Amino acid sequence: MSTTMIETARVDAFFTVAEARSDRWRTLVKAVNTWQASASDHLPDREADRAAVAASLSELRQWEDFFAYPGEALLRRLDERIASGDSIDAARVIHQISMALSSHSYRENVGEWEAGDDSQSMLREVVKGLGQEGTPHKPYFEVLIVSPSGPSARAQAAQELRKLRRQQDRFVYESVVVGSFEDAVLGTILNGSIQAVVIYDSIPFASVHNSPILRQFLIDYLSPEVIKKAPQDYGLTLAHALKAIRPELDIYLLSDRDVEKLAGDAAASCIRRIFYQVEEPLEIHLSILDGVADRFETPYFDNLQKYAQRPIGTFHALPVARGKSIFKSNWIRDMGSFYGVNLFLAESSATTGGLDSLLEPTGNIKVAQDKAARAFGADRVFFVTNGTSTSNKMVEQALLRPGDIVLVDRNCHKSHHYGAVLSGALPLYIEAFPLTKYSMYGAVPLRSIKKALLDLKKEGKLDRARMLVLTNCTFDGHIYNVERVMEECLAIKPDLIFLWDEAWFGFARFSPFYRRRTAMGAAASLEKKFKDPAYRSAYQTQSIAFGKDLDASDESLVDMRLLANPEKVRIRVYQTNSTHKSMSALRQGSMVLVKDEDYESVEEQFHEAVFTHASTSPNLQIIASLDIARRQMELEGYELVNRSIQLALDIRREVNSHPLISKYFRVLGADDMIPAPFRNSGFVDYFTAGNNWAKSLSALREDEFALDVTRLTLVCGSAGFDGTQFKNMLAADYDIQLNKTSRNSVLLQTNINNTRSDVANLIKVLADISRDIEKRLAHGTETEREAFAARVKGLMENVPDLPNFSFFHKHFREISASITGEGDIRTAFFCAYGEEDCEHIKLASPEIDKRLKDGPELVSANFVIPYPPGFPIMVPGQVITVDTIDFMRKLDVKEIHGYNAALGLKLLKASVLDAK
Ligand SMILES: Cc1ncc(COP(=O)(O)O)c(C=O)c1O
Repeated sequence: MSTTMIETARVDAFFTVAEARSDRWRTLVKAVNTWQASASDHLPDREADRAAVAASLSELRQWEDFFAYPGEALLRRLDERIASGDSIDAARVIHQISMALSSHSYRENVGEWEAGDDSQSMLREVVKGLGQEGTPHKPYFEVLIVSPSGPSARAQAAQELRKLRRQQDRFVYESVVVGSFEDAVLGTILNGSIQAVVIYDSIPFASVHNSPILRQFLIDYLSPEVIKKAPQDYGLTLAHALKAIRPELDIYLLSDRDVEKLAGDAAASCIRRIFYQVEEPLEIHLSILDGVADRFETPYFDNLQKYAQRPIGTFHALPVARGKSIFKSNWIRDMGSFYGVNLFLAESSATTGGLDSLLEPTGNIKVAQDKAARAFGADRVFFVTNGTSTSNKMVEQALLRPGDIVLVDRNCHKSHHYGAVLSGALPLYIEAFPLTKYSMYGAVPLRSIKKALLDLKKEGKLDRARMLVLTNCTFDGHIYNVERVMEECLAIKPDLIFLWDEAWFGFARFSPFYRRRTAMGAAASLEKKFKDPAYRSAYQTQSIAFGKDLDASDESLVDMRLLANPEKVRIRVYQTNSTHKSMSALRQGSMVLVKDEDYESVEEQFHEAVFTHASTSPNLQIIASLDIARRQMELEGYELVNRSIQLALDIRREVNSHPLISKYFRVLGADDMIPAPFRNSGFVDYFTAGNNWAKSLSALREDEFALDVTRLTLVCGSAGFDGTQFKNMLAADYDIQLNKTSRNSVLLQTNINNTRSDVANLIKVLADISRDIEKRLAHGTETEREAFAARVKGLMENVPDLPNFSFFHKHFREISASITGEGDIRTAFFCAYGEEDCEHIKLASPEIDKRLKDGPELVSANFVIPYPPGFPIMVPGQVITVDTIDFMRKLDVKEIHGYNAALGLKLLKASVLDAK
C-alpha cells in the first residue's frame, strides 16, 4: 500500500467507524428511496437509480465483512433483489437493516435477522438463542473467528458454533469470520462488539481489504520482524497484536502443532485456552461464554443484589437500611418513592452476610478489586469511596515519611499539597509551563523535572527524593509522555516512586492510542523494555560514555536522552483515578492502582494509610458502582471511549469550521495548548491542513505532551463572555452544564455518556448565541459596538501574568541557601494554628506595598486557591512576592478558598518567624 494512501486517510477515520457505518447505511436508504420512487412511476432514470443503489451497497459491503449483522445471507438477498430490479423488496430490507443497526434491535429481536420470505431455514438457525420477546435480556456479543479455510468452510465453522447454543446460555453471540492476520486486526479495531477471538493457526497474513488505517496501525504496533514470521507462528503473533489493541479480549488458539508445548510457552500466556484444532467445539463454545462471564461477573454487586432480597432484621446503626423508617413515614415517604426500594434494601452497616469489608477485604470486595486490577493493568487495586482527593492522600501518607522530598507540580490538585502537610514530606515544587493567554497552566516539562533531580543530586539529597507526583492528564487535557518521564527519572534515581494522578484519565486504558500514555500502560512497557537485550546494550554504551551513575556535568544530562540502568531500576508506579469522573461509578467512587515491585515493603504502611483516611462506614452503592464500572469498561469500554473521542473531534471540527460560530468561539487545538518545542514531531493539530493519521499517531508516540481531545477548551472571551459568565449562561438559559472556566474560556468534556444529539444541541446553542451577538452588533449603536470590542480586548489581551511559586521562607528551609526549593510545609501549616501568631492585611492596603518594598517579608499562613484557575497561588510558609499580589489584585473571581476579603491576607507574623 502506498504512503499516499496512508496520507489521505481522514485523521478522525479511526474514531468515526461507527458514525461512518451508519452514515453509509443512511446513504443507501436515500438511494433506494430514490430508486423506489422512480421505479414505481416508471421514470426513465430508474435504471441509473438502481445502479446507484448497487454502487452504494458495494461501497458498504467491504466494511460489513467485519460485522455479524446483517451478515452474508441478508446481504446476498439484497444483492439479488437489486439485480432482479425488485425495488420494493430491496427498499424494505434496507430500511429494516438500517433501523436495526441504529437501534441495535438485532441484538434482541429475532425478526431483524430475517428477510421475510419463506426460505429462511438458515436464518432461523442464525437467530436461535437470541432473546425472544418476554424472555430475560441476554447480552449479545460477537466472536471473531480467524480461519485459513475458504469462505464456505468458514461459514460452516460459524454455523457449527451456532448449533451449540443452549437455552440456558447467559449470553448469545454471533460469529464474524475472517481469513487473514490483517483482517483479524481490522475486525478487532472496527467491531467494538467483539469480545472473543478464535484463531486457527497457519493463517495467511495479507488482507483482502485495502485499508490505509489498518496499514498504519500495523506499522505502529508490529515490528517488521514479527510480520516476517512463518505462517504457523502467526496465530501467536496475532494474539499478541490483538491484546496490544484490546487487552480485555479473550483469545483462543486452535492449533495442530504440538499444543502441549505451546501451552507451556511463556509467550502463550496471553491466550485464554489452547485447543487441538476443532476436536472440541462444545468446549470452545463453553469457553467463550465462560470468558465473557468472567468479565460480566461483578462479585460485590451480584452479592449485594442477593443480600437485598433477603428478609434481614437489623439491630445496628443505619435506620435507612431496609427502608422501614422511610416507607412507613408520614413525612418522608417521597424519599422512598424517589430513590426506590432497592437502594434501602441494599443498605447495611454490617460487613457480614457476604458484604465483606472495604477496610480489610477478604471476600467479594477483594475479588472485585482483583478483577479491576486485571482490567486496568495493575498488580493490585484499592477501591476508595471518598474520591481521589482521599486516594491521593492515602498514597502519599503510605509512601512518604517526614523529611522525604516529594517533587510535585505546584499546579496539582490541592489533595497533594495536603498530602505533603499530612505526611511531613517536603514538597519541591516544579513549575508547569504557563498558558498566560488563557489564564491556565500546562504540564511540567521533563527538563525541569530532571533539573530538579540533578540539583538534589548535586546537593547530596537525592536519596531523600522519594516520589514524583504529576497530573496526567491535566484538567485542561495535557497528557505526559509517561514512559519517557519515568525512564529518564529512573536514570537519575532508579528507585523513584511515581504517583500519577489520573483523576480525569481512568478511561484512557481502553483506548489503544491513549493507553501508552497512562501510568499502567507505560509501566508495563518499561517492564518489557528493561528486559530487552537491545535496551541493555544501549545502556552499556551510555554507561561507557557517562559512567554507571551518570556522573557527567548536570547541564549535559538535562538535555540528553537518558537511559535507566536496567539492573538497578525498580518499577514503582501508583495511579489514582476518579472512576466517577470518566466511567459509570457513583460520585466519589475512586481507585488506586498499584504496580510496585517493592509493594511488600510498604504494604503495612499502605494499610495504615487506608485506615487513616477511609471511612469506617463506606457507601455500599459506591463500592458496587466501582465493580460495575469495571465490568462495563471490560466489555464495552473500547467502543464507548472511541465514541467519546469521536464526539470531541466532531465538536472541534464543527465549532472551528462553522462560518458563524467560529467568528465568536474557538476550540483550542494542540498548537494553542502545547508550545511548539514540546511537539517535536511537528504535529500542529488534528484538523490542520496537511495533517494526517500517520502524523497524529507519531505525535502521540513521540511528543513530550499530547492533548486529550475529549477535553475541549472553548474560547468565549472573543464573544464577550468571561468563563464564569458563559458557564452560568449556558446552565441557566440552555440547560448545558460544563466543566471548569478560565478568564476567557470554558472547558467542555465529552465522555462515555455523550451522544451525537448532545453534540448537535451544543452546536445549535452556540449558533443561536452567535446569531444573537451578530444581531446585537448589527442593530446596536456605534458606542455599543465599541463597548463590545473593548470587552473582548479586555478579556483576550489584558490577562494577568501567572505567578510562579516564589520560595519558602527561610524558617521552613533546612538550608536557606540551598539551590533546591523544598520546604517544610507541614510546620508552616501548623504555625497558623496559633491565632496570636497570625495577622491579616487587606489586599488593597498600602501596607502590603510597603512590606513588599521594605520588609519584613510577607509569609502566607495558609493555602489561597482562587477558582478559577484552581491552583494554590499561596501555600503555607511561602513568601509572597509582587507577582502574586499583582495577580491577586487583578483577579476578578469571587471564589477564593483560604482568602477572606473582609479580613485580608492571612500572614504569619514576622516576630514568630524571627523567634524560631
Ligand atoms: C487532578 C485532580 N486530582 C484529584 C481530584 C480529586 O478528585 P475527587 O473529586 O474524586 O476527590 C481532582 C478533582 O477535580 C483533580 O482535578
